[in-house]
Amino acid sequence: MAKMYYEKDCDLAKLDGKKITIIGYGSQGHAHALNLKESGCDVCVGLRQGSRHWAEAEAAGLQVKTVAEAAKWGDVIMMLVNDEVQAAVYQADIAPNLEAGNALMFAHGFNIHFKQIVPPADVDVLMIAPKGPGHTVRSTYVNGKGVPCLLAVEQNATGKAYDIGLAYAAGIGGARGGVMETTFQDETETDLFGEQAVLCGGVVELMKLGFETLVEAGYAPENAYFECIHEMKLIIDLINKGGVAAMNYSISDTAEFGEYVSGSRVLPYEETKKNMKAVLRDIQDGVFAGKWIAENKNGRTFFNAKRAQLAKHPMETVGAELRRNMLWGEDTDLDTASN
Ligand SMILES: NC(=O)c1ccc[n+]([C@@H]2O[C@H](COP(=O)([O-])OP(=O)(O)OC[C@H]3O[C@@H](n4cnc5c(N)ncnc54)[C@H](OP(=O)(O)O)[C@@H]3O)[C@@H](O)[C@H]2O)c1
Repeated sequence: MAKMYYEKDCDLAKLDGKKITIIGYGSQGHAHALNLKESGCDVCVGLRQGSRHWAEAEAAGLQVKTVAEAAKWGDVIMMLVNDEVQAAVYQADIAPNLEAGNALMFAHGFNIHFKQIVPPADVDVLMIAPKGPGHTVRSTYVNGKGVPCLLAVEQNATGKAYDIGLAYAAGIGGARGGVMETTFQDETETDLFGEQAVLCGGVVELMKLGFETLVEAGYAPENAYFECIHEMKLIIDLINKGGVAAMNYSISDTAEFGEYVSGSRVLPYEETKKNMKAVLRDIQDGVFAGKWIAENKNGRTFFNAKRAQLAKHPMETVGAELRRNMLWGEDTDLDTASN
């Protein structure tokens, strides 16, 4: 069984007197910075000069410095810039400003596990990885809940890395949902696998194919959007609350019968498992990491082409129009997305 921690196991006071620097103010950055500040911590955001988020962070009442100044200021430094730029940002602005006894933190293990960043031995290296999007880390905190987190300690130079990690998890609200102890390796590999095979790659492909199948059969694209895309969240909410049993309780028996009859027809068990194992192997062997690092060095030609292609897909354009006309259509603030 994995070791779990909850709020009662975390002492937020372990961050008393510690200056916490959040590098980046994107999806995770804004959520960590605001949640920690509202939990009573001393927080500063580190951004590049000219960052489009600088004014936004200041308007939210946070102090903002350049990445280098913020790294120098902080005792605990959380790296929340995109994974693919972390190594360069670390080399240029963090490493020269790290002091013995500092805690260098991550929300994903990619750069430590694949050795793109190799910190000095006299700093703590740890991870608090929320298992949800940054905007949900924020919205759940505001609603008195929290997104569960993974905790991993790669280096415990001060002997206090676990205290810092658990206090940090409490500060962002994660300990309300639970903190599971893991390693950088396991977090990196399972995170990449989950997002590729199921959460992002798998789910988007499934919704897209379902949408296309209905539209090609002559059904209205709006109808296809509701059936194969919009309803996804409503179904997942039920699973999130009470497992598949809760979903099966709420859906009709006809839907449940269809689940048993057609699920494995769409995703043939042996073949899908074989493909999933191949995806996992590429992650474990570093093949995927190598491809992603190369893609970033080569101007992201494949990535950009795929993103542009998806933006034009009818499931995106039809969906945008439907959502715009929903009663709450004007609400594009991801921090208020329901959870
Ligand atoms: N997205 C998620 O929900 C999620 C979930 C779990 C873990 N994580 C992890 O959290 C970390 C942050 O991801 P994210 O999705 O929150 O990132 P993001 O939304 O893309 O935000 C990136 C931030 O990094 C800044 N940045 C980008 N390039 C920079 C550079 N060269 N120099 C300085 N700052 C730079 C951006 O600056 P500007 O303000 O100037 O644009 C922005 O503030 C990653 O390790 C990721 O794996 C993310």
